[in-house]
Amino acid sequence: MKDLTGAVDEGRALLYLRPSVQQEDLGGVISENGWQVDVACDINHANQLLESNCYRVGLVHVDGLRPQQIPDAEQLFATRDNIAWVALAHAEALQQGQLCRLIHENFVDYFTLPIHSGVQGLISTLGHAYGMACLRQHSHHDISYNDYEMVGTSPAMRKLFVSIRRVAGVDAPVLVTGESGTGKELIARAVHERSPQRKGPFIAVNCGALPDNLINSELFGYEKGAFTGANQRKIGWIEAAEGGSLFLDEIGDLPLGLQVNLLRFLQEGTIQRVGGTESIRVNARVIAATHVNLAQAVEHGRFRQDLFYRLNVLNLNSPPLRERVQDIEVLARFFFNKFKGDAGRTIRGFTRRSLVAMNNHQWPGNVREMINRVRRALVMCEGRRINPVDLGLEHVEDEALVLTLEQIRERAEERAIRAALVRNTNNVSQTARELGVSRVTLYRLLNKYDLVADS
Ligand SMILES: Nc1ncnc2c1ncn2[C@@H]1O[C@H](COP(=O)(O)OP(=O)(O)OP(=O)(O)O)[C@@H](O)[C@H]1O
Ligand SMILES: [Mg+2]
Repeated sequence: MKDLTGAVDEGRALLYLRPSVQQEDLGGVISENGWQVDVACDINHANQLLESNCYRVGLVHVDGLRPQQIPDAEQLFATRDNIAWVALAHAEALQQGQLCRLIHENFVDYFTLPIHSGVQGLISTLGHAYGMACLRQHSHHDISYNDYEMVGTSPAMRKLFVSIRRVAGVDAPVLVTGESGTGKELIARAVHERSPQRKGPFIAVNCGALPDNLINSELFGYEKGAFTGANQRKIGWIEAAEGGSLFLDEIGDLPLGLQVNLLRFLQEGTIQRVGGTESIRVNARVIAATHVNLAQAVEHGRFRQDLFYRLNVLNLNSPPLRERVQDIEVLARFFFNKFKGDAGRTIRGFTRRSLVAMNNHQWPGNVREMINRVRRALVMCEGRRINPVDLGLEHVEDEALVLTLEQIRERAEERAIRAALVRNTNNVSQTARELGVSRVTLYRLLNKYDLVADS
């Protein structure tokens, strides 16, 4: 446990955004209660103060903001999410949808004006906000030191987090499936870190990266003299994973001839080194990953069915980014914060147009593509915030701007069909059933959007 009370003494600096002088001035009473208050008269001024000061709490008269200032304000609150924002508003302003949304999405609390007798209430709210900001800072701190942090708030990711925990405690192989760049390796590490084997090693082996003749000796090790050049005994990756987890990445690429050796290990828990006769017992949790459809590979005779069944006891699917649009912004901000040091100067975040473009993009390269685009943008960005052009997404934004309602409907329809096809492994009958349309209708739509499925 961190001692948060110690952190409280670092200085209670508070940014007070009061866009109109007609608004009740609370700066005096707040500073009398132990806060150092800096008053900003508009958003630009607030940004300037934020550049050179460290605030944990921000207090804002939100109903003093003009409608045209709201997008900039939103940008400010969202990119400064290390600050706990508290809103002040008159009761009638809280009837406006736009302000309510602004408060709900960006603020930890709000206070109704006029304040009159409620000053002590406000002071205690600011104290709580300060505590929340400290907690948040400590949790962010942990993220920045952990490269294997998984980020996501979409229902699909929440479900995945629950499944990871559930699967981690069970002593059986896990198969992680999903498109490239969706985070399969991260999932494998997350399983390991939550498993009883977490104190042991995590050995990652890319089954597609080594030539066939090497992979066997790398996986199983060899005895001295097993082949020319085997001058001494070598322990293979499977043995190296003793007491921990063995991550077999791209298992679909494992040559057919070698699959039987792996099957033996999964069935019996023992291996033989190349050139050896001794059976060596190895206790290692097996986690495999693949971006290919293994069931299909089995059908085509490229993957052993018995091995597939052995590996596929517990399955975790890593959903593509386009199927969890809610995570796009969260991930973009996460990588922005992670890599913003690369920029060499202060960049404040994304413009609203960038967020729109990212939301409209299809992300064929998934999270890996997101990382590349954000890192590139941090280097290319000439302004204070990242624009679509920095992300290489200017065309996406243009597309988004000229879409008619009909086109938007079509895009949504196409996206839904694509996603359903993936979920139903391209099977037309199942996809049609899930989407609640007839097969005939689905065929017409597949034709319309130039999509292919298995009949
Ligand atoms: N939910 C997430 N939160 C944070 N980072 C993520 C998330 N998902 C993926 N990443 C990051 O994206 C990159 C790609 O993830 P990973 O290597 O696990 O994907 P993969 O599915 O194994 O991809 P490939 O098929 O290309 O090997 C990594 O740098 C990983 O840390
Ligand atoms: Mg991978």
